Amino acid sequence: MLVLGIETTCDETSCALVQDGEEILTHTIVSQADMHAEYGGVFPEMASREHVLQMLPCLHKTLGTHALNDIDLIAVANEPGLMGSLLMGVTTAQMLCYALDKPIVGVNHVKAHLYAAMMGNERHFPALGILLSGGHTFLVDIQNETTYTVISTTVDDAIGEAFDKVASMLGLPYPGGPHIEQLAKQGKKERFSFSAGRVKTNPLAFSFSGIKTNVLYTVSETQPDEQAKADIAAAFQDAVFSDVLTKAGKALKTEHRAIYVGGGVTMNQTLRTLAKKRYDLPIFFPKKELSLDNAAMIAGMGFHLRSQASTPERLECSPRFAH
Ligand code: KG4
Ligand code: ZN
Repeated sequence: MLVLGIETTCDETSCALVQDGEEILTHTIVSQADMHAEYGGVFPEMASREHVLQMLPCLHKTLGTHALNDIDLIAVANEPGLMGSLLMGVTTAQMLCYALDKPIVGVNHVKAHLYAAMMGNERHFPALGILLSGGHTFLVDIQNETTYTVISTTVDDAIGEAFDKVASMLGLPYPGGPHIEQLAKQGKKERFSFSAGRVKTNPLAFSFSGIKTNVLYTVSETQPDEQAKADIAAAFQDAVFSDVLTKAGKALKTEHRAIYVGGGVTMNQTLRTLAKKRYDLPIFFPKKELSLDNAAMIAGMGFHLRSQASTPERLECSPRFAH
């Protein structure tokens, strides 16, 4: 089954053609990161306008020599994300479905980040899922490719958001995660003592706003030089990853047969190295090109959701993680 995937949840316009949920035939990702860097974060109104400009060229490039009529199903990320951005992808998908008389299926892009860790990898279920993205942080029970139950989430900032805000405090550009990772390589994590928050009501829940404030005070009190900035980056990164890996370890159940880690923060090589050493279970990450927002994971997961496909007028989109 040939699935066309469309992803416009935030600041990437992406389309992909994926065969049977697995084989990526073509994949195009147009990032707007440089445009938003000037504002220190994603400017929602500009993001949706840029999707308008990028969508058709992105679609043409992805289709290449493939005929529109060869597509069996259109999968589109319809939650969660920025409303204006989501609408661009969903409207494009709906229009194609009407014109081609094809079925459509909505894909939760956060769940698709975990599916990205399964693409090209072994599947062992039930599994623990660790989702670390710019907008979300979740531990989930994974029953199969499409059935996930949330174990815990963050009570305030998402982990990627914390990376981006700490980067901005250190004078680094958006998106901050890769810059923190680079800077941390020159730093000594022992010089500063940071720790991520504990949530009294749920020991598996996350809280990253306290550590962010701690970094803010440290920066304003110490006026750090370049070495001190690297030390702060190293201490921050170490604290948040220790927190995630410890809580994930506590969430592991005897029936879990593997761990899948997804979301943009999995671009971080330090995280990958730490996580691989930590557990006795097989642990899988997305290929780097499938870590950030992308349409291949949407098309891939769409294949597994094909029984839920509908007609275009029935597809809604939601800015929140609804199901
Ligand atoms: O999953 P994603 O592409 O978008 C959302 O769904 O939110 O994740 C983007 C996030 C950003 O916060 C970015 O700073 C973070 O992933 N990120 C990283 C790294 N590369 C991207 N965080 C830490 N280390 C990295 N190397
Ligand atoms: Zn994402």
